[in-house]
Amino acid sequence: MKTTTRLLHQADDREAQHGSVNPPIYHSSLYTFPTMQAFLDTRDGLEERYMYSRESNPTVRVLEQKIAMLEGAEDCIATSSGMAAITAVLLSILKGGDHALIVQTCYGPTRSFMDDIMAELGVETTYFHPHVTDLSPLLQPNTRLVYLESPGSVTFHIQDLRALSAHARAHGAITMADNSWSTPLYQQPHSLGVDFVVHSGTKYIAGHSDLVLGLITGGGDQFRRIKKVAVLLGATLGPAEAYLALRSLRTLSVRMAQLQQNTMAVTTWLQAHSKVRKVLYPGLPSFPRHELAKTQMSGWSSLFTVELQPPLDPEQRHNFVDGCELFSVGVSWGGYESLIVPLLSINLNSMSAEERLGLNDNCYRLCIGLEDAGDLIADLKQALSHYIIAPKGL
Ligand SMILES: Cc1ncc(COP(=O)(O)O)c(C=O)c1O
Repeated sequence: MKTTTRLLHQADDREAQHGSVNPPIYHSSLYTFPTMQAFLDTRDGLEERYMYSRESNPTVRVLEQKIAMLEGAEDCIATSSGMAAITAVLLSILKGGDHALIVQTCYGPTRSFMDDIMAELGVETTYFHPHVTDLSPLLQPNTRLVYLESPGSVTFHIQDLRALSAHARAHGAITMADNSWSTPLYQQPHSLGVDFVVHSGTKYIAGHSDLVLGLITGGGDQFRRIKKVAVLLGATLGPAEAYLALRSLRTLSVRMAQLQQNTMAVTTWLQAHSKVRKVLYPGLPSFPRHELAKTQMSGWSSLFTVELQPPLDPEQRHNFVDGCELFSVGVSWGGYESLIVPLLSINLNSMSAEERLGLNDNCYRLCIGLEDAGDLIADLKQALSHYIIAPKGL
């Protein structure tokens, strides 16, 4: 049976809910017990029942079981945001005196968490280039964690997830990967050897820009510790958000297929445009490590970066961005709507030249939505023709 079919029915129990095709939203903070013995048995783990919604909720549980199936994991924890998922894993694995290897293209707030919070707890971090394949020179006796994110969400560098997780494992280190860009439909890091996978479910999984959601998948004793930390932090998800995410999951495969088709059309068109210097999109055959990406991923999502030429002055930049009528200015991604954000406004200013990895003030990150691809191309065409002065000879 195909994953898309299984996703629709995984963890459904219609008979237990009067035949209702949708799981109810269990709006209950606590669950009562028919007897004191049933309460004690549940507390002692002898009986499986719900106790308190910060620990577990039936609507949230359906979501967790569907995501675990998609990622090919033993289990899943749904959290109140992607950052709650990331920080719960980091806090449960790392302790003072440990060393962490983190890919330098990780999501910005993940880096801040390492630099501002984990450093104070005594964790040392080394950032490494996403194209590093041999971790040996970087691994230290106290390296406990290797953090991966492939593709990254600004430059979209592809990491060799198989090789890196094999190195980490041989060294006794744990690996985790942020899989938000690909979704579990297009990449399953566990199958490549990664121990724990995290998602900003806020993006494609939610898909409609109407909720904030995080997900963690994995298994074993360490996973149970992560669950404990997430519950102690109070980082778990509420049932209303879980219901919305379940509703979105039903169309994940069709949304992703359409987004992929739209984005291939837009990036292919942009790449051939005289006012475009480069397009950073892993789905393009010209993208560095595209062949490696094909061995790890089965599809491409809709977020990419484009560098325009010639460089624009600040006023022209404003005019170009505002002139893209179908693209709203916004920082998130993965919804139904197209977005544009000038990279200088989100993270370039705080980066050193080395950290910028070739990005400059003339780069824009675009998220393609479910609008008609032809309309999006026509919009970009008019914005490029009106607001950018072509260099001589083009
Ligand atoms: C790649 C990536 N990971 C994690 C996060 C954090 O997710 P959330 O905003 O749901 O906390 C984001 C948010 O933009 C992201 O882009």
